[in-house]
Amino acid sequence: MIDWHLNATITTDKAINCAQHVLIVSDVDHLQIGVFAALIAQKLSRMQRTWLDLEQKAITLETQAGQLVSVVCVSTQRSPFDVQTQLRKAMTPLLAEYPSHVAVCLQCDDASKDRLLAYIAWVLAINAHVLTPLKKSQPTPALTQVTVLGHDRLPDTGWIEAMVSGNTLCRNLTLTPPNQLTPALYMSQLHALAATHDWTLQVWDFDTLKQMGAGAFVAVAQGSTDKDAAIVKLSYRHPQADKTLGLVGKGICFDTGGHNLKASKYMLGMHQDMNGGAVALGVLQAITLSNQVVNVDCWLAIAQNHIGPNAYKQNDVVTALNGLRIEVIHTDAEGRMVLADTLTLAARQQPDVLIDYATLTGSMQTALGTRMSGVIANRPAFAQQWIAAGEVSGERVVEFPYAEDYDEALESEVADMKECTLDAEADHLLAARFLGKFVDDAIPWCHIDLSAYANKNGLGAVASEVNGFGVSLTMHWLAHFLIKAH
Ligand code: BES
Ligand code: MN
Ligand code: MN
Repeated sequence: MIDWHLNATITTDKAINCAQHVLIVSDVDHLQIGVFAALIAQKLSRMQRTWLDLEQKAITLETQAGQLVSVVCVSTQRSPFDVQTQLRKAMTPLLAEYPSHVAVCLQCDDASKDRLLAYIAWVLAINAHVLTPLKKSQPTPALTQVTVLGHDRLPDTGWIEAMVSGNTLCRNLTLTPPNQLTPALYMSQLHALAATHDWTLQVWDFDTLKQMGAGAFVAVAQGSTDKDAAIVKLSYRHPQADKTLGLVGKGICFDTGGHNLKASKYMLGMHQDMNGGAVALGVLQAITLSNQVVNVDCWLAIAQNHIGPNAYKQNDVVTALNGLRIEVIHTDAEGRMVLADTLTLAARQQPDVLIDYATLTGSMQTALGTRMSGVIANRPAFAQQWIAAGEVSGERVVEFPYAEDYDEALESEVADMKECTLDAEADHLLAARFLGKFVDDAIPWCHIDLSAYANKNGLGAVASEVNGFGVSLTMHWLAHFLIKAH
């Protein structure tokens, strides 16, 4: 948690006295009349750059008093993604020294200050922690105090800290090595989290799912020696809520590919295939900590995709919980299998809205790279809400089609449908069509294929490669379209 100190006035004296690490966030008009202007001018001239160049790239300099100062020139004309990226890059050299106290000088028109300070607070707070799985090799930072010069109204830091907490939980879980986050170990963490947050927790274990006829989930889970796979439901209730949100997440703790084994290059990192579930959990935590007036049921499909004598095979035909028979085509398409039965369970409870998160397809990454994620919804207007939330949050999503005729590719001779195809088709679209068969059409549903869950050298506000993409996006969607507060 960061302690915020605000000061409406801003002078070079104050800036020199208040902290060893200073971030100057300015628009182009205020830069040349702002704090440390002479020093900045000197450095710019030495580098043969102009004031305007600061809009492209922040600079960092040292004052005579020994302070480290980062200077960034922002414009509120630019997108939230661009502004957050600029701020993150400017903060990186400061945060690399793990300061306990940072001063921020805000130099812009009054009308832009609230918005800019909200971005600054988010970007500072999200990068102020070191992620636990990385901790041993790094000193522990503790940014505990931020002094703001130039503005005296704080953004909603409770909301921001809640998102930071949810996003950080998501990243820490995703980064946990697979021997330390088996389904069984994950489950014990979930019990602890449920106790902390007062969530009710319900578990459908392997035997229960098998007995219920959740054949799609079981097909994947049966390949593991430990029968610790499960579907877990965590619930948050608010007494004044009149809407219930269903969140579903893919929680594959390791994806070997199964019998259609991945090559080493593609298997490395597959402990992160539980990121979708971690996003759902992060959203649940952010909603809980910020006390949102909504009910949430968070469903996690937790399993591993193993090779072995009991593992499912190509050509197996399995019956899903909703009765649909599925012809297994490729054992590496395990995500849609475990999500199928989890969506069935979630949809049976008739939530007002259903959202699923998954690192589902390589083809979404082929389509978008790792800077944006894809969204597919069973209603165009619903997809548009996510596009808008992506714009304001800076976690950008692109809409992909949900068109019925794509089902032809999934027609099977031996079952109701194929799991996938072996052709180089648009698998991200086929996967969404497949998942749609387990969701009641009456429920607004969207599927978020998290192609951007990890991006080298950071993305938008977040400096780490694994970035928690989806938590802030969903909180902005919630605030704009379900609860209408932010
Ligand atoms: N988890 C992977 C997809 C993935 C890999 C997402 C890397 C993000 C990063 C998924 O389970 C998978 O293996 N999908 C296959 C499906 C195919 C066999 C139809 C893929 O995309 O190759
Ligand atoms: Mn796979
Ligand atoms: Mn997978």
